[in-house]
Amino acid sequence: MKWTIRKFRQCKGGEPLGLVTAYDYVTARFAARAGVPLVLVGDSLATTALGHSTTLPATMDAMIHHAEAVRRGAPDALVVGDMPFLSYATVEDAVRNAGRFLREAGCDAVKLEGGVSKAPAIAALVAEGIPVQAHIGLQPQSVKSTGYAVRGRTPDDAAALGRDLDAVCEAGAFSVVLEGVVPEVAAELTARAPIPTIGVGAGSGCDAQYLVLADLLGLGDGPLPKLAKSYAHLADDAVAAISAYMAEVSARKFPDAEHSY
Ligand code: KIV
Repeated sequence: MKWTIRKFRQCKGGEPLGLVTAYDYVTARFAARAGVPLVLVGDSLATTALGHSTTLPATMDAMIHHAEAVRRGAPDALVVGDMPFLSYATVEDAVRNAGRFLREAGCDAVKLEGGVSKAPAIAALVAEGIPVQAHIGLQPQSVKSTGYAVRGRTPDDAAALGRDLDAVCEAGAFSVVLEGVVPEVAAELTARAPIPTIGVGAGSGCDAQYLVLADLLGLGDGPLPKLAKSYAHLADDAVAAISAYMAEVSARKFPDAEHSY
């Protein structure tokens, strides 16, 4: 059953949905087979799949290339393309680049970071028929100016988040990511928002959650960020499998008769 934006919006106030990122056909197939309703082709591509230390090096061309593959792997899920750093610096850039996600990669929607300051871009995209997922709170693309500071720790900051939320809702976003927000504030924002909130490091009070698939599957070899949890340790399995293969080749056990013509 194909997920639609309208259907996704109905998760507001219901049982929370588990959502993931994916970066290629293989990981999108995992998500599709598990029945994930919405898959984000996140700019975390840069860190988790391309080995960079921040998300800033993700480019539009790289995002499109990976989003096309995710689309093929998860035909029934909503596929959201994450607008990379500087791809929506102006409203014109935002419309042109968001259009590429829909036209070239077959995405259903785009996501972009920013609240009040990005409301004009969100409104312009929505006016062109491009569904937008907003992203407020901790914004990794602003790491050079703000760091990775948790948001909502003071009443003033909680009020600023409220203004960001109101701005993206008024601009027409169909959902909003709350990243790195203290749980009490995220729950208040969720109660205030007419659209689904998706938490990342924002407690369990949101309408849905994102987890980066590489973290969920245990594909990395470094420590996880506090907001992430591994439900499998596939990197360890992969290393063990490759080591077993190499040992069998050395011992002339592979290929054996069964795997030879
Ligand atoms: O790129 C990403 O992984 C994100 C998170 C919100 C999941 O933007």
